[in-house]
Amino acid sequence: MIQNNAYLINKERLSEEKGGIERILVVDDEENITGVLSLFLKSKGYFVSTAKNGEEALKILKDGYYDLVLSDIRMPRMDGLALLKEINKLKSNIITIMLTGFATIDTAVGAMKLGAFDYVVKPFTIKDIHNVVKRADERYKEMMESIQLRETTSLYDMSEAISSGSNLNEIFRIGINAISREVDADAIALYLKNKKSKLFELKIRAFKSKNEEWSKGFIKTIDEDTVNKFFKGNRTVLLHGREIFKADIFIAKGNHLFSIISIPLKIHNKIIGILNAYSFKKAHIFTEGQKKSLLIFSNSIAVAVETTRLYDNLQQTFKETMLGLAAALEARDKYTNGHSYKVSEYAQIIAEGLGLSQNEISLICQAAKLHDIGKIGIDNSALNKPEKLNKDEHDKFKDHIMIGMQIIQPISFLSEAIPLIYYHHEFFNGSGYPEGRRGEEIPLGARILQVADAFDAMTSDRPYRKALSYDAAVSELRRFSGTQFDPEITEVFIKEIEKRKSA
Ligand SMILES: [Fe+2]
Repeated sequence: MIQNNAYLINKERLSEEKGGIERILVVDDEENITGVLSLFLKSKGYFVSTAKNGEEALKILKDGYYDLVLSDIRMPRMDGLALLKEINKLKSNIITIMLTGFATIDTAVGAMKLGAFDYVVKPFTIKDIHNVVKRADERYKEMMESIQLRETTSLYDMSEAISSGSNLNEIFRIGINAISREVDADAIALYLKNKKSKLFELKIRAFKSKNEEWSKGFIKTIDEDTVNKFFKGNRTVLLHGREIFKADIFIAKGNHLFSIISIPLKIHNKIIGILNAYSFKKAHIFTEGQKKSLLIFSNSIAVAVETTRLYDNLQQTFKETMLGLAAALEARDKYTNGHSYKVSEYAQIIAEGLGLSQNEISLICQAAKLHDIGKIGIDNSALNKPEKLNKDEHDKFKDHIMIGMQIIQPISFLSEAIPLIYYHHEFFNGSGYPEGRRGEEIPLGARILQVADAFDAMTSDRPYRKALSYDAAVSELRRFSGTQFDPEITEVFIKEIEKRKSA
């Protein structure tokens, strides 16, 4: 009956305290102490191992995963203080509690300065141990929470970068920084598969600190067969010491490589890259927990790589579609051949002169290339007429604004360009079309297009007149600044083209 109750209590403890200390190592050269502590802690539901001295303890710690070490100070071979120093080198999250005789209290206090969590003076009661382990458990949970929070923050930074459309290098930079924080690796390398050559190419190597020796031995490309053979379908590979050299490893060769985590980046079950973390320090081997962290980051990086590739493909298709549309227009109207490209160049000069962002500049250039796309729907004979259009024909010509919008509207990529195209014939004083908007009611991009469009029209031959000279066109711009053209944009444009002219 008693046994059953004890079993129930232990079960409850394990489920209730999930996330707290689970595995404890007791180190003492007195067997009766390790025996009693082990029995008590096991009865509380912990997994417990024992060691007779520091040296034995260190071996056990390197082979397995422990949350708490309860260690005596005076022991043969390696004492408690030396063990504590070695534990510190492991850079794990192990909590250490020293067990000390009255004679070594000073040493125990010193141990706390080295990072020990607490000490218990011998002879102790079971209650003393119970209390100190409970406190350690609290600390452990706090530590785990802050690690989780850090990981979540790093992942959040990465997903932000991915969703905001940052370029791949920026995403890698954030990812690599986060990984070096979480995994504590001496070096990290990222290989990506080249779709054409099918080779995995080394894209990024990052080192924790400058070390000539570490940077040696990174293989630049790896073929697909070797990669598949190495992972053999595994989701992760974690190797230490000699295992690295026994394994058919391709990633880094060097005498000092001591621990490695290697993770295939997978999309739709196909390996598209490899993420490796390396430890070159003998005392520092990666843990299962660090392997798990790296796996989470590698998933995010794989998604980023794939998203960027899809986005690039989409952008490429979009650019080709746009150029196709512009070419169709130019082919139809022989007098305006090259007009939209020149308008785009002038618009870019203005946008840069105004200090607009790269995104704004490329939007304006896209709109410029398509600003007259609606002319596709205008009677060909009117477009190529040798004399000026009469009122009726001009009214029909104005329809190119509405037709342009109807062409562009179904293309979601171009939605931001619509207002620029739609309002590019508005005048600054409100006497333009289609709505008679004035001043800043007209989108900035459309006001830029108005100046760029007019300048190219004036300096190009038309069926009914010869091109104006550069100086004459500039003085026309000045003459209509404030009525047809936005004065600020006019000034910036004149300043910028004068600069280029004198250069
Ligand atoms: Fe136009």
